[in-house]
Amino acid sequence: MRAEDNRKITETGPGTPGGAWMRLYWQPVALTEEMEGERPVVPVRILGEDLVLFRDDDGAIGLIDRRCAHRGADLSLGRLEDGGLRCYFHGWLFGADGSCLDTPAEPADSRLRSKVRIRSYPVRERNGIVWAFLGDGTPPNLPALDCLIAPQEYTFAFKGYLDCNWLQALEVGIDPAHASYLHRFENDEDTADGYGRQFRNASLGTDLPMTRILREYGRPEILNARTEYGQRLVALRRLDGEGLDGSSTHVRITHQVFPHGITIPLSATMAITQWHVPTDDVSCYWYAMFTSLDEPVDKATMRAQRLEGITLPDYKPVRNRANNYRFDPHEQRTQTYTGLGRDINVHDQMAVEGQGRIYDRSHEHLSRSDRAIVTYRRMALQAIDTVAEGGSPETLLTDTADVESRGPIPLDGIGPTGEWEQYWARSIADLRKASPWASRLQAALATGPAGVPGSEIEPDRSGSPDAYDRSNG
Ligand code: FES
Ligand SMILES: [Fe+2]
Repeated sequence: MRAEDNRKITETGPGTPGGAWMRLYWQPVALTEEMEGERPVVPVRILGEDLVLFRDDDGAIGLIDRRCAHRGADLSLGRLEDGGLRCYFHGWLFGADGSCLDTPAEPADSRLRSKVRIRSYPVRERNGIVWAFLGDGTPPNLPALDCLIAPQEYTFAFKGYLDCNWLQALEVGIDPAHASYLHRFENDEDTADGYGRQFRNASLGTDLPMTRILREYGRPEILNARTEYGQRLVALRRLDGEGLDGSSTHVRITHQVFPHGITIPLSATMAITQWHVPTDDVSCYWYAMFTSLDEPVDKATMRAQRLEGITLPDYKPVRNRANNYRFDPHEQRTQTYTGLGRDINVHDQMAVEGQGRIYDRSHEHLSRSDRAIVTYRRMALQAIDTVAEGGSPETLLTDTADVESRGPIPLDGIGPTGEWEQYWARSIADLRKASPWASRLQAALATGPAGVPGSEIEPDRSGSPDAYDRSNG
């Protein structure tokens, strides 16, 4: 990738082309759980901007500039009172909408406050996440995705910090081959203990543990196709190893959701939709929404599992660059591919942080397994150019209340070899028909095979030197 394109696609600060593109989309800025407790005030750094999120006495949420409009004191340490956030320096009070409500050090008849306004952005709260719109003008609706439409008891949200550019974090999520290596375990656990954990369950319709399939079949066939929300990925592993005759194929279907999200299966009935939100160009947060089709999510268990690996209040990983991820060479030789324990988030974290704070893509060698990454970069660069020219990228921007759901629907299962499309259509129709909430969202099924014909599978461009150099087409 040309250095110039790498800059264009990775930088999202105010005034950058990538930043203008990102600002067309709702962004996760905090978990609802961060806004609970005695003082719901949270500093937020996003897309290179420093803001403060707070809930006022009436329950309204505001996202405003972190610097006081008077002389720049830090409002994240302000006083939460009198229907707003009050600066500790000279007492100016700001409402959730950015208006200045009080300037107590000024003469009693001063009209100064009516002329002062602080930057503020629209926010919405949905299924455990506070979302903000940092763009200009009227925001679009929140996208019609399953994770945002499902009843809240069927969802759970969490987040974590990554010490690198957001694009590295996204790219590991659209790379189906890495799971056979980075996340390899030498021994399988009892899949009955897999609740809430990635790659610890059995695939749909089988008792084969995912860990075994990933370990024994390290050369997936990967197909990708553009969709209305981004991209669909299919990874096929034909089961022809010891004791198996090749008549069945492991099918793993995942999605890229613009601008920086993925939807992947956690288990047969639970999906993860995860966004990779830039704090600035050298760090990001992942925000994950877990959505269950069949039963309400056991949020206490899910939260306790995830709290083990992070420190509060900033959700930074316990294993990190500074302690060399607590790397254990003996474990690497005998139990796991990484030597970093069994939490797959830590594996992904090491992989992407290991590429550097902003990965220099001018020297890499893209391979067949990178085809979805190649497509994503082309689509994103194209979208950034479209926005820079005053146009509007199509993916998910025009959602209105009458779009019932776009899914997208992931799957991890085993079906007859050569029939993944039919197998997928059948499996998701059955799973959704049995779901107390998804059974009424028929439109989401259209993002299945019927929505993207096999003939629209992206050509494999990974081997060509101009894989994503648009000057060559
Ligand atoms: S700097 Fe905030 S009130 Fe003066
Ligand atoms: Fe991974």
